[in-house]
Amino acid sequence: SGQRAMVDLNQIVRDTAALRRHDFEKADMRIVLDLAAAPVRLPASELELQQVCLNIINNAYDALQGTKGRPTLTIRTAERQDDATLVFSDNGPGMEQPSQVFEHFYTTKPVGQGTGLGLSISQAIVENHGGRIEAENEPEGGARFTVTLPRAAERTAEAPPPRPVSEPLPAPRRSLPASVLVVDDEPVVLELQMAILDSLGAKAVAAHSGQEAIDLMKKRDFDLIVSDLRMPGEVSGKDLYTWVAAHRRAGTQGFLFVTGDTVGEAAFLNEVKSRCLLKPFSMEEYVSALREAWHGLPTAA
Ligand SMILES: Nc1ncnc2c1ncn2[C@@H]1O[C@H](COP(=O)(O)OP(=O)(O)O)[C@@H](O)[C@H]1O
Ligand SMILES: [Mg+2]
Repeated sequence: SGQRAMVDLNQIVRDTAALRRHDFEKADMRIVLDLAAAPVRLPASELELQQVCLNIINNAYDALQGTKGRPTLTIRTAERQDDATLVFSDNGPGMEQPSQVFEHFYTTKPVGQGTGLGLSISQAIVENHGGRIEAENEPEGGARFTVTLPRAAERTAEAPPPRPVSEPLPAPRRSLPASVLVVDDEPVVLELQMAILDSLGAKAVAAHSGQEAIDLMKKRDFDLIVSDLRMPGEVSGKDLYTWVAAHRRAGTQGFLFVTGDTVGEAAFLNEVKSRCLLKPFSMEEYVSALREAWHGLPTAA
């Protein structure tokens, strides 16, 4: 994921708003753009920032359903000395618990509608860019999300920077320099893990099924495999573990299971002594489980 280049925040906002504008209009809701006059350029992964915008726009769309008056989402961009801001404000009912919205799996939506991961993923992405994201309710009601991202000096051949030293791009904290294969059939859970791993400096590869994971492992080795235990399809997490045990070079791969429940699996997990992380988990729990699974490896020659 995370390929960085100079992007224009205004363009990212226009592109993502365009994706949902029709749905808003059909529901008698508006998206109003109040963008900085000049392009707001900063080093970022365009795809990841699009994902952040889309997550917040989608949430506003849900929140504005049933709002009286003129349901409106306003998106503003502004450029400051060292950073840029991206502000989303809506005139919906506001958040029930603004301090909790970034928690993994926090959702007030009915089962099947909300995953509670959109804002967790958004926060991981923004922080991975050296920025921050804040949620608060407007005094007059409605929710406001403020994303602040650092700008780095633009270095082009035509216009060299006035100062000789420019700040480097915010580097991810390289605390898990491992290659990790993440296996999960739920796209959002997969996405969240990829964002966290990226922020840890890991080289993460995604597989949407056990079979896809096996196909990938036939081509290359990974330091660590993090897999859902229960997956639909031919190859379950258990099958995957068995395959890995049979094919790996002795002691070269760590394995971590991530699962919603262990009912009926306790005996298996006990037998293989593989670590298992229960959903929902906090970012800290996930990271320490990863570290344990990774450091639990015998050191290579
Ligand atoms: N614009 C908003 N207005 C009111 N509540 C919001 C808004 N955006 C997010 N929330 C709250 O934050 C929760 C978490 O959002 P998110 O992480 O995207 O997960 P999900 O959308 O799957 O519930 C939502 O369930 C909702 O309660
Ligand atoms: Mg959401």
